[in-house]
Amino acid sequence: MRTRLLWSIFPILTLLAASLSFFYLNDSSELSLNNCSLIPYNHYWLTSKRIVTPQGVISGAVEVKGGNVVSIVSEGDWSKKSKTGQVFDYGEAVIMPGLIDVHAHLDDPGRTEWEGFPSGTKAAAAGGVTTLIDMPLNSYPCTVSAETLKLKLAAAEKRIHVDVGFWGGLVPENAFNASALEALLNAGVLGLKAFMCPSGINDFPMTNSSQIKEGLSVLAKYKRPLLVHSEIQLDSPLDIEGDPRSYSTYLKSRPPSWEEAAIRELVSVTKDTRNGGPLEGAHLHVVHLSDASTSLDLLKEAKNKGDSITFETCPHYLAFSAEEIRDGDTRFKCSPPLRDAANKEKLWEALMEGHIDFLASDHSPTTPELKLLDSGNFLKAWGGVSSLQFVLPVTWTYGRKHGVTLEQVASWWSERPAKFAGLDSKGAIAIGNHADIVVWKPETEFNLNDDFPIFIKHPSISAYLGRKLSGKVVATFVRGNLVFEKGNHAPDACGTRILATSKLNSRGRIQEILAKAWKSGLSGVLGG
Ligand SMILES: *[C@@H]1O[C@H](CO)[C@@H](O)[C@H](O)[C@H]1NC(C)=O
Ligand SMILES: *[C@@H]1O[C@H](CO)[C@@H](O)[C@H](O)[C@H]1NC(C)=O
Ligand SMILES: *[C@@H]1O[C@H](CO)[C@@H](O)[C@H](O)[C@H]1NC(C)=O
Ligand SMILES: *[C@@H]1O[C@H](CO)[C@@H](O)[C@H](O)[C@H]1NC(C)=O
Ligand SMILES: [Zn+2]
Repeated sequence: MRTRLLWSIFPILTLLAASLSFFYLNDSSELSLNNCSLIPYNHYWLTSKRIVTPQGVISGAVEVKGGNVVSIVSEGDWSKKSKTGQVFDYGEAVIMPGLIDVHAHLDDPGRTEWEGFPSGTKAAAAGGVTTLIDMPLNSYPCTVSAETLKLKLAAAEKRIHVDVGFWGGLVPENAFNASALEALLNAGVLGLKAFMCPSGINDFPMTNSSQIKEGLSVLAKYKRPLLVHSEIQLDSPLDIEGDPRSYSTYLKSRPPSWEEAAIRELVSVTKDTRNGGPLEGAHLHVVHLSDASTSLDLLKEAKNKGDSITFETCPHYLAFSAEEIRDGDTRFKCSPPLRDAANKEKLWEALMEGHIDFLASDHSPTTPELKLLDSGNFLKAWGGVSSLQFVLPVTWTYGRKHGVTLEQVASWWSERPAKFAGLDSKGAIAIGNHADIVVWKPETEFNLNDDFPIFIKHPSISAYLGRKLSGKVVATFVRGNLVFEKGNHAPDACGTRILATSKLNSRGRIQEILAKAWKSGLSGVLGG
């Protein structure tokens, strides 16, 4: 009753408000009384001296209402404004769009002892990742049909702390069955993922280039991408001679020629994706490029010729080099492998020059037992680097030496991944977008040791453990909910399961959308 009375005299109050510059409105619609957020407000302002927007880094305020960004004002306009709603002043901390990780394995359902949606998405929130896209393999069953996607969705229900989308699997069983692929795409996967070498999981077999071509022809109608693990096994890795505890033995077992062979086959397919070609509308994305020599050159050349092709690399390829990996330290095993320091420098160059489209974590955990931390056998240990919570400080810490700017970080981790995956209302702090925001302190250093709150299920297998990093996450907002702050998560897991809708069919060619995206390498107002 009281509320209704308040509403009936609302016009009068508004008039009064106009004459009182310090008037604050406490109406019930401002409050959001649930456990999805650590703050009980759905209308508030975030202020800071460094807000990363598509127009550059500004000092000012971001207004959030009903889960969306509703206005952005510069400092000058902010000081003149009469304020309604709560204000959270983050001072010198950076307010940036939340990270979008298009490559994560959360292993749920079926292998939750490896990770699982609850721990994985808590780690994401703690690391400033507001949306992730889960890979179709390493869960059981793998997401290769409309039916198995239903099981994924059920596993994620009320168990995710950030927004989660899903890739489906392109495998020999469905590659030549257009109706099966269409059923999977109609059920809402954002695109498909395929392997050109054994995936390490028996129920996710590899595909060859004819199957990839078939998959692309179906995807073309949907304008959704095909993501490919691009290595072709040229010789058996177990035939390799040498000490299995030595990293160089593993490195020799997966040479750059494997990546090169796969990418050669792929670009012979993607030439058909050019304007007017038989696969126009299809898009191929090479995941986790490691080889910065011929493989990189082939990709650059294909792009120059107009192929609809993009590629990512991961923070671990930019942070570590083969020379520093000690015998038996299988935390660093991943495929394709971490290569030498010269290769790492060339990857940085390709990233800074805008050839590499964006970054992704490839968070691929397992149990400490399967990582063989005790025996240290590189040839038999599970391959995958655990990193989801740390990608922001890692990108920043190692990137500072290369002059990386805040805008570049936002472009590689938010703007471009959002455009790539077709996430329309995400990827930038812009009016109308979801209020998916990370607040972080780039200058704050911390040691990633046992005292640091780590939320991935098995901290001991992370290659970053023991490192000193720069860039501490202060707070993370997902659709306006404060889901993480100062080591604490909101009690309820209120992330949204993102499904592709038919609307995505009508978007343009992914290549062109990305070309128009906020270019990396903008002259930074602030930087390293
Ligand atoms: C009402 O607004 C005032 C001024 O912003 C604030 O201090 C107070 O906490 C608000 N009350 C509620 C319940 O939000
Ligand atoms: C929030 O969580 C607390 C503690 O678990 C519970 O008592 C309360 O009812 C919850 N509130 C809502 C709105 O769900
Ligand atoms: C193709 O997939 C559909 C739907 O999953 C299935 O019913 C059908 O048997 C499959 N066709 C072939 C030839 O495998
Ligand atoms: C790919 O595998 C399919 C099914 O085994 C086969 O029919 C096709 O010829 C193969 N394509 C190539 C390029 O090896
Ligand atoms: Zn992966």
